[in-house]
Amino acid sequence: MSVHSEIKKITTETLRKMKFDKEKITMLTAYDFTTAKMVDAGGVDSILIGDSAANVMAGHETTLPITLDQMIYHTQCVVRGVERALVVADLPFGTYQSNPEKALDSAVRMMKEGGAHAIKIEGGKEIEDSIRKIVNAGIPVCGHLGLTPQSIYQFGTYKVRAKEEAEAEKLISDCKLLEELGCFAVVLEKIPAALAKKASESISIPTIGIGAGPDCDGQVLVYHDMVGMNQGFSPKFLRRYLDLYSEITGAVSQYVKDVKSSDFPNDKESY
Ligand code: KIV
Repeated sequence: MSVHSEIKKITTETLRKMKFDKEKITMLTAYDFTTAKMVDAGGVDSILIGDSAANVMAGHETTLPITLDQMIYHTQCVVRGVERALVVADLPFGTYQSNPEKALDSAVRMMKEGGAHAIKIEGGKEIEDSIRKIVNAGIPVCGHLGLTPQSIYQFGTYKVRAKEEAEAEKLISDCKLLEELGCFAVVLEKIPAALAKKASESISIPTIGIGAGPDCDGQVLVYHDMVGMNQGFSPKFLRRYLDLYSEITGAVSQYVKDVKSSDFPNDKESY
């Protein structure tokens, strides 16, 4: 008999059931092994290897430059640290929009080489054929509507989306389409709370909100933002649980002082 206690892994089916049972879903990003281990141990239901890695890991202004190879590398690192959470990886800009065959190839690489459990892509009707192709290959797909950062140069700003009626109506119809196509969940980013509530009530798959109010079926935040590593980024929707920027810079400056003053290492720290 095994002495190890069985860890019940979260699947797309678990998330569907959580919506049915009205239990909120939690998702955070991670991009590396050590962080993924901590986030998983903290009990999050799903870990997203977001293409926000382009911003917080690589320092790019937008998510556009990150490549599929780079996203696969981040995903491999995260997967090695996770025992319980559902691991969802973003397909980056330019790897699924041009045609369904290319989209499927990108998704297959992310599953096969990255080891992701599911992929996430941005858009609705415009990428319908790509979503259908990926879902038909047996790959779980999470949609992403509202503020879709890969379209930033079309939007021109990171302000709240779908405040106007036409865009709000399209968002609801895209939500229904994503459900019909077989997506297992949809991320709703930076839209009015009332619209997110309506969207969540219109479909049976879970909605996971970021800046989309309290009535989504779950919430997602970027790890670096919620632990306060990013000093310059303070959108209204962000709740900071730590001030790691100050903690870490404080620790580093103490280390510098200790070395400069020959306080570190001391006798106990030497062989
Ligand atoms: O890339 C990302 O981190 C995301 C989340 C903001 C949902 O897509």
